[in-house]
Amino acid sequence: MRLKNCHNFHDFRRMARKRLPRPIFNYIDGAADDEVTYRRNTAAFEAVDLVPSVLRGVKDIDMSVTVLGQKLALPVYCSPTALQRLFHYDGERAVAAAANTFETMFGVSSLGTISLEEARRISSGPQVYQFYFHKDRGLNREMMARAKHAGINAMVLTVDSITGGNRERDKRTGFSIPFKLNLSGLIQFAMRPAWALNYLTHEKFSLPQLDSHVDMGSGTMSISKYFTEMLDPELSWKDVEDMVADWGGQFALKGVISTQDARMAADIGCNGIVVSNHGGRQLDGSRTAFEQLGDVVDTVGDRLDVMMDGGVQRGTHVLKALAMGAKAVGLGRYYLFPLAAAGQPGVERALANMKAEIERGMRLMGAEKVSDLTRQSLYIR
Ligand code: LAC
Repeated sequence: MRLKNCHNFHDFRRMARKRLPRPIFNYIDGAADDEVTYRRNTAAFEAVDLVPSVLRGVKDIDMSVTVLGQKLALPVYCSPTALQRLFHYDGERAVAAAANTFETMFGVSSLGTISLEEARRISSGPQVYQFYFHKDRGLNREMMARAKHAGINAMVLTVDSITGGNRERDKRTGFSIPFKLNLSGLIQFAMRPAWALNYLTHEKFSLPQLDSHVDMGSGTMSISKYFTEMLDPELSWKDVEDMVADWGGQFALKGVISTQDARMAADIGCNGIVVSNHGGRQLDGSRTAFEQLGDVVDTVGDRLDVMMDGGVQRGTHVLKALAMGAKAVGLGRYYLFPLAAAGQPGVERALANMKAEIERGMRLMGAEKVSDLTRQSLYIR
């Protein structure tokens, strides 16, 4: 399978599956429990229809949006995700460069595999830092200070991960970090020689945001165990209120689903929220972001930037979310499979496809700019 034959999410997913060792593919592809929420994230978009307006004399399409004080040329961005150099040796470097080319936002994760300082050097464009609140307060303080020093404008605190989701695929495959070189790991390596060669001949796996505080040298850990053992389950609204004040810049919460929590986020001074269920990877059975979006926007849309992610595979999904009132839409697996399949050219092709789909969709909807998409553009059953 070749990159030029990848026209949509499923094509890239297939290509990634052929390239990646099975545990790594399933780490990206998998979700919690029965993966009901994961499936519903995409299916939810089908419950709402687009209602196009014709004969609007649409000429130039302006897809730009402003979120968390940053202008994005596209209404989609690459959500911060963990461990990217496991998926492709260029990892976050490829994603940062691709986002920069498309003038859109990307994020470096606390569990990122290049340093946030390096990511900043690759792209001076819109960027967020994804924060996991650890039990180790010294680590939290250090990460905040480093992000500030690196000139990151927006902090995004993930709040849906105070314990690990039940990722049964990871249990079956034994996926852990660093990637295990036991017998079954070696067999997986041998079955994907191109990936294995690249993994072994490029810079050693590391987690530069955490290295000074977390000893990864002595054994391995599943992501679920990492969340449960390292992150602070007692994190409260008061802690976050203090963090917002300490940061003193743009601050968003990621993983808000309820309207009450959205209101709390506005009350403590957040500038944004990402309505998200973490790609169905945490609480299975959770309501989907798209289903909650309208209510959340009606509750706090005039007080902070409401973004959403989860299940977005098509330009028309993005149009529906924007029409419902999202300011921008996050992509996760949508760019990770292309990263795994082909590195930076893969991510760029996926973003180009998405851009073309959004542009075509806006033309067909009679919308020249994002604000032309409103609830009037939707039929909500
Ligand atoms: C995950 C984390 C690391 O979902 O965000 O695996």
